[in-house]
Amino acid sequence: MTQLPAAQNPPASAGSATSAGSDHPKALYGGAGTRRITVRDLAAAKERGEKWPMLTAYDAMTASVFDEAGIPVLLVGDSMGNCHLGFDTTVPVTMDHMTMLSAAVVRGTSRALVVGDLTFGSYQEGPVQALRSATRLVKEAGVGAVKLEGGERSLAQTETLVQAGIPVMAHLGLTPQSVNTLGYRVQGRGDEAAHRLVRDAKAAQDAGAFAVVLELVPAELAAEVTRSLQIPTVGIGAGPDTDAQVLVWTDMAGMTGGKVPRFTRQYADLRRTLGDAARAFAGDVVGGAFPAEEHTFH
Ligand code: KIV
Repeated sequence: MTQLPAAQNPPASAGSATSAGSDHPKALYGGAGTRRITVRDLAAAKERGEKWPMLTAYDAMTASVFDEAGIPVLLVGDSMGNCHLGFDTTVPVTMDHMTMLSAAVVRGTSRALVVGDLTFGSYQEGPVQALRSATRLVKEAGVGAVKLEGGERSLAQTETLVQAGIPVMAHLGLTPQSVNTLGYRVQGRGDEAAHRLVRDAKAAQDAGAFAVVLELVPAELAAEVTRSLQIPTVGIGAGPDTDAQVLVWTDMAGMTGGKVPRFTRQYADLRRTLGDAARAFAGDVVGGAFPAEEHTFH
């Protein structure tokens, strides 16, 4: 197996059972223990001032790689619409898609907290619908938390889920389910929009959300929200001062074709690697080099 440069490897204890001697027994990334991360661990990390990484995942095998790498929180995002299911946006993703792929991610992991998205149209009707959708994700897929878009506009839904014992991550700033009204552009610019975003973040916290995703907002505003909340903020295109950072895994690993957002960083070139592998296999088949004697039964 390819070994990452040492600087990119988590401490040996990450997600492993041999972690008793870890210098950072409580650390989310590289910390000790094999039990699942919970929302209480994220609250404790905020108190310690510890930053943590989050990635999306949509299948068991990829999720197992990230779990072994020590990523403490995996989001089964409705970005699966664009990144896994071949849609143009997140809007067509259904709770059937979400439940099936969330269950796969849960099966592929043993340590990460798995958060499943409530999809467009699965909670906007109100708290009863939200509870039905979230309960399904928890019972059928086994996720440890759900995410929904909106602050004040999703207040009643958040309160109801939290009262029912379902941890909720809020999502503010650019909320892709509203692409038809917002487009894909930076949110929270200007005094009024900034105040609205701060109000939304506080409303989500007051309703009991355990964390808030801030997508595509000015860094200064994200820093202000992060300072003013007791719960962790998770940034994507929100500058360096949030408590956590999330990337869509296909962007992070260079799997996404075409243009990727400016806020992402590509840590591998999987698209090229996979294409090269497919071309090498095809060449061997066409040229008669595969299968060879060692792959053949007599
Ligand atoms: O669906 C998703 O992947 C997300 C992240 C971009 C936060 O919501």
